[in-house]
Amino acid sequence: MKNIQHESGKYQVTGEAMYIDDMPMSDRLLHGYIYTSPHAHAKILSFDIEKAKSVEGVHAVLSYKDIPGHNQMGPVIHDEPVLAEGLVECIGQAMFIIAAENQTAADKAMSMIDVEYNILEPILTIKDAISKESLLQPERKIEIGDIDSGFKSSKNVIEGEFESGGQEQWYLETQICMSVPGEGDEMKSYSSTQHPSETQAIIAEVLGVGKHEVEVECRRMGGAFGGKETSGNHVAAWSALLAVKTGRPVKVRLFRDIDQKITGKRHPYFYKYKAGFDDNGKIIAVDVQHFANGGYATDLSMAILERGMLHAENSYFIPNMRILAKAMKTNLPSNVAFRGFGAPQGIFCIEQVLDNIATYLKKDALEVRKINFYGIDDRNIAPYGVTVENNRLHVIYDQIIKSSEYMKRKSEIDRFNSENEFIKKGIALTPVKFGISFTTSFLNQAGALINIYNDGTILVNHGGTEMGQGLYTKIRRIAAVEFGVSQNRIKVNATNTSKVPNTSATAASSGTDLNGMAVKNGIDKLKQRLADFISELINVEHKKESKVENIVFENDEIYNSNYPEIKYSFEELISKAYFNQISLSATGFYRTPDIHFDRASGKGNPFHYYAYGMGITEVDVDILTGGVDVKRADILHDVGESIIPNLDIGQIEGAYTQGLGWVTGEEMKYDDKGNLLNHAPDTYKIPGICDVPDDFRVNLLQGYPNPSTIRRSKAVGEPPFVLGLSAWFAIKYAVSAVCGHAKEPDLALPATNENILLTIDDLKL
Ligand code: MTE
Ligand code: HPA
Ligand code: MOS
Repeated sequence: MKNIQHESGKYQVTGEAMYIDDMPMSDRLLHGYIYTSPHAHAKILSFDIEKAKSVEGVHAVLSYKDIPGHNQMGPVIHDEPVLAEGLVECIGQAMFIIAAENQTAADKAMSMIDVEYNILEPILTIKDAISKESLLQPERKIEIGDIDSGFKSSKNVIEGEFESGGQEQWYLETQICMSVPGEGDEMKSYSSTQHPSETQAIIAEVLGVGKHEVEVECRRMGGAFGGKETSGNHVAAWSALLAVKTGRPVKVRLFRDIDQKITGKRHPYFYKYKAGFDDNGKIIAVDVQHFANGGYATDLSMAILERGMLHAENSYFIPNMRILAKAMKTNLPSNVAFRGFGAPQGIFCIEQVLDNIATYLKKDALEVRKINFYGIDDRNIAPYGVTVENNRLHVIYDQIIKSSEYMKRKSEIDRFNSENEFIKKGIALTPVKFGISFTTSFLNQAGALINIYNDGTILVNHGGTEMGQGLYTKIRRIAAVEFGVSQNRIKVNATNTSKVPNTSATAASSGTDLNGMAVKNGIDKLKQRLADFISELINVEHKKESKVENIVFENDEIYNSNYPEIKYSFEELISKAYFNQISLSATGFYRTPDIHFDRASGKGNPFHYYAYGMGITEVDVDILTGGVDVKRADILHDVGESIIPNLDIGQIEGAYTQGLGWVTGEEMKYDDKGNLLNHAPDTYKIPGICDVPDDFRVNLLQGYPNPSTIRRSKAVGEPPFVLGLSAWFAIKYAVSAVCGHAKEPDLALPATNENILLTIDDLKL
């Protein structure tokens, strides 16, 4: 497959790409503003919004009492009100919404809202939530073998506790939705959402109308990263409510500071572990507990927790393992999906355990990792009972160790560290085995609608959304290849619930897997129809026997392979088909076969396949400042047969870099009242161009097509995020060099400069 430009790349470069905030505005457009809770936990004793309504330029001020349908926007469990009712459970929770002509009028109205609270004690940290037994939902468990006898037969046993931090999605386009009321109950919402069907559902429920009245459209998002899997529904619900009440179009667009303060983030985790192993570091038993900070509402926390549990062993065979997990309820905005969806947290935990085993045994961490990798023919049962098939860990390992010259560099690094006091170097390898499919099995379905117009152009509709990852570009490529036409003939339409209904979120990295297959299914139906038709034509016009199975679609032409001299151009055939009253439109559908997972028993086959990869990062750590310089990263990643290699490489670079941000600079700070203190890029540090590795080598594993996916490809969006962890382990190695690797550093994740310095101080004591 060849490299292809991103479908909207040129519009993005020229500024022509049409985001929702760029859409032409009606002169009746109003703007929506959100009045949010100043308290993390409080009873609302009374409120008065009447005075605010009289401000000039203000057209509506609404409370929960004004909601015609359900006051609910929780996607799975209904525990998240659209507007607070009697209680606020986090700073930033929406209480009232205002439709105004401008910000000045809205600000004035906000200042005239009176609320009387009874302030309650908030729970802010995971440990506080554990001690108060504040859970969102009951504990979950996955277990294999027998850990008790495993520990008994282990020569060495270690235990410990540690944490990982949250992370803001930091999409460039903040949350936005513009809702335009139509006649009767009709509502059309232009929403920046990864999940148009769910946005439609929430709007319909909140307005108390059927889903058939609500149309949701998303041309593209300016980034999402999981942060618009459910959070987009919130602004959509607010804008639709204001649009219904005012009878005018209403746009809700969150400013950066507000967006960052009130929307959910990656779940911070607290982990406890106990590990038993032999003298070589081969693991016999592991007991882990994952505690996620879920915030005040459930949202997708249980699915995130589940994915974390299903990645708790990462790439390693652990014969006796118990994974217990709890989503803790705290008085913070409800945490949501973020690239990796709990897998990075689950994987961080076991990677840390392996590192600690290596330190304990005074062995090389890579050696310990390697002897625990899943086997090919044995040692290959995952804790949830499935046999790990098509294991690519060993081939990737062999190739990357060689191409990166790991062994040589490692010994150079050790020598450098012994000779230098103020700069210490580190290197580490992190593997990833990432399960592809929604773990909620029924979500693995997709639809498409393919229209061929009678001029021979093709409009492809599907249920996936574009957030920069290149889904539309891949879909166009897939459609062109399947149809045997040039891709200039094909346009991928804006995602719209009235074209393809009942879709799943574009998430779990499965956008191309699911929608690509649905598009192929629709195209196959059309090709079948056209093949029947051309066979008849060949028969009637050329008096030749033509079988449907001999019809070939290629190079914008259609012909019977037995009579290659008779060729119809795509246009010509389509035009003839139209005049012969052949339907030129078809729907497509796909469901992932043979996957299931039983939550109660913690067993099943939740994934269609695994995506594998390995990342090696080398860093310099400045011992005096805690500064980190990422010198080099080598990545070898398995995307099956790449549909568009340059897009896949872009995804890997981006995912790694976002992972790097999570483990280094991105730190969330709250005060003791639950206020997020850093809610803008001046204080919240996402990786910039200077933070990416100086020498960045990303390669795709060649020669391993994926047996049963669209064009033998593999999902790529999230798995390489995990490889960013190699930077953290490299930093930890560099830091522990200050004491000759004698002690295990208690390094925080994120390893900010400050945290690195604190750890070094600790080690030097
Ligand atoms: N890439 C860009 N540029 N922007 C994004 O928002 N989201 C990531 C990943 N890559 C994202 C991205 C996440 S969280 C997921 S789940 C996948 O893209 C979703 O798209 P896919 O299923 O088509 O890979
Ligand atoms: N990944 C992303 N989003 C999801 C998932 C998942 O596994 N399950 C439900 N929503
Ligand atoms: Mo991605 S976190 O599954 O949207």
